[in-house]
Amino acid sequence: MGKTKTNKVWGTRMKSKPSELLTKINASIDVDKELYQQDINGSIAHCKMLAKQKIIKSDISKKIVNGLEKIRKEIQSKKFKFSQSNEDIHLNIEKRLFEIIGPNAGFLHIARSRNDQVTTDFKLWVIDASQNLNIEIKKLIKALIKLAEKNKNVIMPGFTHLKNAQPVLFSHYLLAYIEMFKRDHKKFTNVIKNTSENPLGSAALAGTGFAIDRFYTSKQLGFLKPTDNSIDGVSDRDYAIEFLFVSSLCSMHLSRLAEEIILWNSDIVNMININDKMLTGSSIMPQKKNPDGAELLRGKSGAIYGNLNSLLVTMKGLPLSYFKDMQEDKKPVFETFKILNLNLKIAKELVESISPNKAIMKKFANYGYTTATDFADYLVKKGLSFREAHKKSAKLVNIAEKKNLSLNELSFSEIKKIDKLIKPDVIKALKIENSVNSKTSYGGTSIKNVVKMLKKLKKEFK
Ligand code: ARG
Repeated sequence: MGKTKTNKVWGTRMKSKPSELLTKINASIDVDKELYQQDINGSIAHCKMLAKQKIIKSDISKKIVNGLEKIRKEIQSKKFKFSQSNEDIHLNIEKRLFEIIGPNAGFLHIARSRNDQVTTDFKLWVIDASQNLNIEIKKLIKALIKLAEKNKNVIMPGFTHLKNAQPVLFSHYLLAYIEMFKRDHKKFTNVIKNTSENPLGSAALAGTGFAIDRFYTSKQLGFLKPTDNSIDGVSDRDYAIEFLFVSSLCSMHLSRLAEEIILWNSDIVNMININDKMLTGSSIMPQKKNPDGAELLRGKSGAIYGNLNSLLVTMKGLPLSYFKDMQEDKKPVFETFKILNLNLKIAKELVESISPNKAIMKKFANYGYTTATDFADYLVKKGLSFREAHKKSAKLVNIAEKKNLSLNELSFSEIKKIDKLIKPDVIKALKIENSVNSKTSYGGTSIKNVVKMLKKLKKEFK
């Protein structure tokens, strides 16, 4: 046999060293060193299992575990030297294990492959990241609850097509966003559940003849169970894509909220004030106070959607099982977590820094004939069909428009000309407060409903 030209674990077959450029493109250590805790935990679980199953001797297993714990400390204290020529986190750690405990390190890789390691580590990372994001989502929900509670009775216009539609409670509007973030929370919980199948022990792709106990390693690592198919085990990146999708959805919700905040804070709308600590100035226009935080919330969602698309495209043409293409899976996921984690924190701070401009909200709630539907409903209650009532209400709007008045400024004598069924109680029906509080259907904007929902939410997000 010829002399080995490289000291790589797989170098024995090679007649020459890998080119410098191949080494460069092949190395993922700069990205996947993020997985060191998961990799060490995975190796320890695997090693203990090998000893329990009497596949390796228990004194060797102990040496390996001690060596791995030493490496963990070296990395934590930043003493560990990561090297590109050792490619990735798995081989960097294995190489160092050989230096620390000698040839016994070679027993660790029985019945496993880097293909198992990388996806096991990555799954553990995704589970952890989803748990962390859920903590931030909860904090954001709590901040929204607080803001809603503080401004329970504030009335604002609700919109469709960005045209004033019907009066609603500001608190009800905020509760709408809470619903979105609650769904995101639920979806990340599902990501955790769906990711909780352990691929370790797939042994590259076919499984192994050694009597390994994959249920044991699953339990050790906190997975619900082992994956059912060794080929799928190493080929699956659905969990990473699902993580990116749920992150995209959550970012979309954050972006819509940010857009509302930007719009409401604009000088032409001016429905909310934002505390200066969430605003920036202009280098030329001395008067400016800009909502950059909200704009970046909106802007950064773009990178997250890009990351989802990137991994979908990377995976779409790959036959089973492992290809090096899949090494590109981590960067978009790690980056997405970083962005979303910061965005959720910023969103919380932004929500905490908002105060509604109550007078302007109320003025706009009255503007645009927003109780026209209430007038139609009034006529329905007096016996008309809704279609008939709709026409009559439109006529009333035309009169108000001609007189340049809002609906609640019209006199009873004017209104009663519309239909003989109209009685003086119509005046009440045209008031925005009455409109809001009449919406008592489940999920509607009445203060009674909102108070009930807030109570429920406060219990849920203590
Ligand atoms: N660093 C690699 C990755 O992230 C590890 C898997 C290597 N497997 C292989 N068959 N070359 O995908």
